[in-house]
Amino acid sequence: MRIAVTGKGGVGKTTLAGVLARSYADDGYKVLAVDADPDSNLASALGFPEEITEKIVPLSDMKDLIAQRTEAKPGAIGQMFKLNPRVDDIPEKYCVTHNNVTLLVMGTVKEGGMGCICPEHAFLKALMSHLILRTNEALILDMEAGIEHLGRATAQSVDAFLVVVEPGKRSIQTLKAVEKLARDIGIKNIFAVGNKIKSPEEETFILDSCGDIPVLGFMSHDENIMHADRLGVSPYERSRKIILEVKMIKEELESRLRTSG
Ligand SMILES: Nc1ncnc2c1ncn2[C@@H]1O[C@H](COP(=O)(O)OP(=O)(O)OP(=O)(O)O)[C@@H](O)[C@H]1O
Ligand SMILES: [Mg+2]
Repeated sequence: MRIAVTGKGGVGKTTLAGVLARSYADDGYKVLAVDADPDSNLASALGFPEEITEKIVPLSDMKDLIAQRTEAKPGAIGQMFKLNPRVDDIPEKYCVTHNNVTLLVMGTVKEGGMGCICPEHAFLKALMSHLILRTNEALILDMEAGIEHLGRATAQSVDAFLVVVEPGKRSIQTLKAVEKLARDIGIKNIFAVGNKIKSPEEETFILDSCGDIPVLGFMSHDENIMHADRLGVSPYERSRKIILEVKMIKEELESRLRTSG
């Protein structure tokens, strides 16, 4: 199961990705969490201690490694390089693990546009396709806000897109834009998840606004989540409510993926 979490800025993508990852780990899954946001902060939502977090170097910053594996010369343009660099040892060597969740921080690769291919892109793409999962493995991707990055390799190899929305028109607009682009790159399973819910009316607003896009469930507005963020710990350790709500979201997701084949 490969799930990408996306949506408008600040809606709660990292919160959901962190809790989903911890929850699958508690179910006995081997979880790989991928932080694909250049402004990376999934580590703290997963509950990684600061000693580990501050040592993490995003993969895209490892210019020498990428150059070595793709046999490209850093900075050179119009050159030949390997499109299928060796990546099998990357997860083991460059990931950190805590609470049974393995974290990979991708960083970002600036691309000239759709279809542009550079050594960094080839490297991350090869890595994503290498991360083929076995039974009982889950991959959770925490994406950058917005839609610009959806053409990237990291977004293209997932089974489902979870688009987080809050009760407001702007995050729903982002949902609709994500849906269109995700379909363009061939992703059929696009679901919405409502967050920061304070009343049943807000749930109704989201259900009405999402139209044909299925809503997997809702996460309540919860002071404990903000408190966890202030402490730099995982919401998973502070909010009983979000754990239960995310459990229901997972069940709904699994049942929908089963019926969609
Ligand atoms: N259900 C909730 N109740 C209360 N606060 C929440 C809830 N969900 C998220 N938050 C808070 O909202 C803020 C943004 O959450 P988060 O970082 O998960 O969003 P994001 O979509 O990943 O943001 P970005 O676009 O910057 O990556 C955080 O301070 C988080 O603690
Ligand atoms: Mg985030």
